[in-house]
Amino acid sequence: MSSSHWEEFYANHLPPADFEDNRSLLKEFCERHNEDQNSIVLVTSGGTTVPLEHNTVRFVDNFSAGTRGSASTEYFLDHGYAVIFMHRLKSMEPFTRHFTGQQFFDMLDVAETMENGESGTPSIFVKPDSVDVLAPILAKYKIAQEANKILYINFTSVVDYMWLLRAACECLAAFDKRALLYLAAAVSDFYIPSDKMPTHKMQSGHGAPTISLQLVPKMLAPLVSLWVPDAFVVSFKLETDENLLIVKSRDSLNKYKHKLVIANMLQTRKSRVIFVTPTTSYEINLTKDQLLAGMEIEEHIVADVVQCHEDFMAAIPLQ
Ligand code: PMT
Repeated sequence: MSSSHWEEFYANHLPPADFEDNRSLLKEFCERHNEDQNSIVLVTSGGTTVPLEHNTVRFVDNFSAGTRGSASTEYFLDHGYAVIFMHRLKSMEPFTRHFTGQQFFDMLDVAETMENGESGTPSIFVKPDSVDVLAPILAKYKIAQEANKILYINFTSVVDYMWLLRAACECLAAFDKRALLYLAAAVSDFYIPSDKMPTHKMQSGHGAPTISLQLVPKMLAPLVSLWVPDAFVVSFKLETDENLLIVKSRDSLNKYKHKLVIANMLQTRKSRVIFVTPTTSYEINLTKDQLLAGMEIEEHIVADVVQCHEDFMAAIPLQ
């Protein structure tokens, strides 16, 4: 029997160097939460790179900052889920995402303490007007860390992502219907296969290169049908042409047979999403005022996804 595209992809591409370490972390995290009968979610977040050289100097990238995945992770923790946060290295992370750039330093001050009339050890403190902002986020971070409720796993290239996705699914299969997959990462659809890539940095002296990209296999296919057949799988659909959004989401549900697609437009993804099931669709919208007040659409998305997951679990009888 000839092997399928996704099997060839793994056969032709080596796993990342730290793959075995990550696999052990995933195994240990999943075994512990499965023993405790916890619900678990795999959140994928951020974009994947497509290297143009084996010794990578240049790569193709996409827009995703990891906002959706990192914000959603915090809300899943609020709902009591254990979370595998599989994210693009250097993209947004839960908790620290609230303090990007110099924001964090602006919350701090240094005080010189005097000892016997001489300056002593400087101490750093949070400015009083920043305590209200920092304290609740820090408290949630500490609770998640102390209860070992979150595992951070990172990827950079599309090949790294695919290896880690399959490894995570191998561990999640044991949770059956208690596993939720929330695939918010913006995964490359095109890449240069390993055997078509130059080893060294492309030389400008050789003229402008002609780069030919090939299709990355859609991993939703084996994921839904083989790797985690009993899990609740949520994929995202990103478009820039409104006319394609619902049609393509339905196509995806028909093709891969999972339960829910969350559709969004590039330009309005922070204020509008559409929940698409095989038979229904409805929108979640945030107004300008709600956005200005700091409300996040992920709070509503996650609340509804959790409800869908609970309904799904309740509908399946205990084995
Ligand atoms: O990170 P932000 O800046 O906050 O942006 C959030 C987001 C817009 C990236 C997010 O909301 C989103 O829409 N993510 C999915 C984007 C995407 O990859 O859409 P797609 O239509 O190309 O793929 C659809 C699904 O197929 C995805 O869930 C993906 O996991 C899956 N896929 C994609 C490529 C591939 N080779 N195999 C796959 O299985």
